[in-house]
Amino acid sequence: MNLKIAIVTDIHHGKDSASKKGESALTLMAAFASFVADNKPDLVLDLGDRISDMDPETDLELEREVNAAFVPIRELAPVFHICGNHDRDFLSVAQNEEIFGQTLRNQVHDVEGIRVVLWRADTVISRPLGFNCPDSDIAWLAEVIAAADRPLLIASHVPLSGHSQIGNYYFQRNPEYSTYPQGERIREVLRASKVPTVCLAGHVHWNTLTTIDGIPHLSQQSLTESFVMSAESGAGKPCGSFGLLHFTADTIDYQVLGADAFRCILPLAQTERRWYPPMGNFSELADHSERQARIAAFQSQAQAAQ
Ligand SMILES: [Fe+2]
Repeated sequence: MNLKIAIVTDIHHGKDSASKKGESALTLMAAFASFVADNKPDLVLDLGDRISDMDPETDLELEREVNAAFVPIRELAPVFHICGNHDRDFLSVAQNEEIFGQTLRNQVHDVEGIRVVLWRADTVISRPLGFNCPDSDIAWLAEVIAAADRPLLIASHVPLSGHSQIGNYYFQRNPEYSTYPQGERIREVLRASKVPTVCLAGHVHWNTLTTIDGIPHLSQQSLTESFVMSAESGAGKPCGSFGLLHFTADTIDYQVLGADAFRCILPLAQTERRWYPPMGNFSELADHSERQARIAAFQSQAQAAQ
């Protein structure tokens, strides 16, 4: 088993904003193409939000410009795209499929002993409700997990961990836009996996590792994000994040290069262990009052002995 994947996410080609340097996206994509040439991955993943949406006509043009940036990369390795919410604000899945020349529906690809699951669950955000993950996407994922006979890498735009957004520029005060409201059901589906399983997402514009039921959930920083940049580290500059995920027989080595660097190395075997289901609430445990009574008795004995 030896699988190397290069990852780019949240390219956000478009106008600069307070926190995103969208005007640097195409220059950074040229650098990403060199990164792919240097690292020779088996495949390349784009986890979505390729553009910062404006209107239907502008968005089509922006997506076409991003596709042009992927043309030289496709000569180096197969590239798989996933749509993010910004790719879907004004554009349909079919329009994105036409531009990127591939299906953007759920798919699996077996590569180098790993099953790469492209979980392209719906990423439309409706305001003020947020995301909605259709039952059909959850059922599809459950079938893939039930049939798995090798390690799974589950790639999606939206993170599935439900991890804390404290400190996140976009999501600390908007956590309902950071994940699916069906998160508990999705994690129940993931928990049933009997094989080593890793989840990878974009969307939240920061690098994280969160372990849920023994499953590592990774999120990767945006190519053009700048909210994490302090004055010392170059405020106002894009992160230029390029991810590299390397599976070997024993380990998963995930690193993100760029101004917001990240790295973790995990034992692969550990990712197939499912944890105990969480115990009940302490206040509802049967022996709670008995335990308190024993502590009180001990304390009064101790006091009497003084
Ligand atoms: Fe994004």
